[in-house]
Amino acid sequence: MMKLTETGKILGAQVLGLDLSRPLDAKQVNQIIWALGQHGVLEFPEQQLTTEQLKVFSANFGQLYVSPGGRAQAPGHPEVMILSNIVQHGQALGLKDAGQSWHTDMSYSDMIAFANVLYGLEIPHRNGLPLGDTQFVNTRAVYRALPADVTRTLEGRTITHDFNKFWEMMRAKPGSTRPPLSEAEKKLRQPAVHPALLTHPITHEKVLYANPGYAISISDMPEHDSEQLLKYLFDFQMEEKFHYSYQWKQNSLLIWDNMGTMHNAVADYGPDEPRYIKRCQVMATKFFGDDGTSHPYLFNKALVGL
Ligand code: SIN
Repeated sequence: MMKLTETGKILGAQVLGLDLSRPLDAKQVNQIIWALGQHGVLEFPEQQLTTEQLKVFSANFGQLYVSPGGRAQAPGHPEVMILSNIVQHGQALGLKDAGQSWHTDMSYSDMIAFANVLYGLEIPHRNGLPLGDTQFVNTRAVYRALPADVTRTLEGRTITHDFNKFWEMMRAKPGSTRPPLSEAEKKLRQPAVHPALLTHPITHEKVLYANPGYAISISDMPEHDSEQLLKYLFDFQMEEKFHYSYQWKQNSLLIWDNMGTMHNAVADYGPDEPRYIKRCQVMATKFFGDDGTSHPYLFNKALVGL
């Protein structure tokens, strides 16, 4: 039986009692979806998963994304990406700088992401303490705390999100080996537009959907005003009271809701401190259709028997 313990912080809960290498039934899947809406980030410790089992677990929550660049994919499993700083025989085993700045995965896509599922196989430690935390912001708490005039200004407006913004931020970091995106790659990832205040399909509450990694402009505003307001929103979300930092444990599976959170991978470990994580990206296909993010299919707790 699934046993959930809240962290007591602004986000996060630990879930025991489920062996994720085995198929889940519909009730268990819905319980996890509901818990993701409430707590944003769920840790399932001490899991033993093959790459295939990670994929099967992740696919319970929506369509799995396959990166068109083909970078850092697990051999034979294009839906699984390797996040790692390990280099073997001169060959990088994975993407070494994934997510190392505040962002929300796939906000630049017409179909946004629901969940990230990360399985930690090798976690760097120094002086007995884990390194490479994943930090989160609770975007529901952010929405609730926004001043009323800012909420009024954002109501009904959209934000454009561009993949190239984050890519260039990563390229600008010292030691980056990322090449610029080719025209073909840019074409595959055209900017996308989403409500600034997104209705969360699980909680039915509004969240601020404006992350510094990809958000580039706010609709129906002069460019200068849009830039100023985005800067304000990015800074506002950096207040510590909205933050939760997850400390990795080997063999933990972490799943988070990309609509109710944004995240940042902390790069506080060196090249000789190996980190190796497998990741699946789950798209929000359970909640949005072709009519876009303004019209979510709302998760109905009673209807799924919870
Ligand atoms: C990500 O953005 O999915 C990477 C997070 C991490 O490696 O901690």
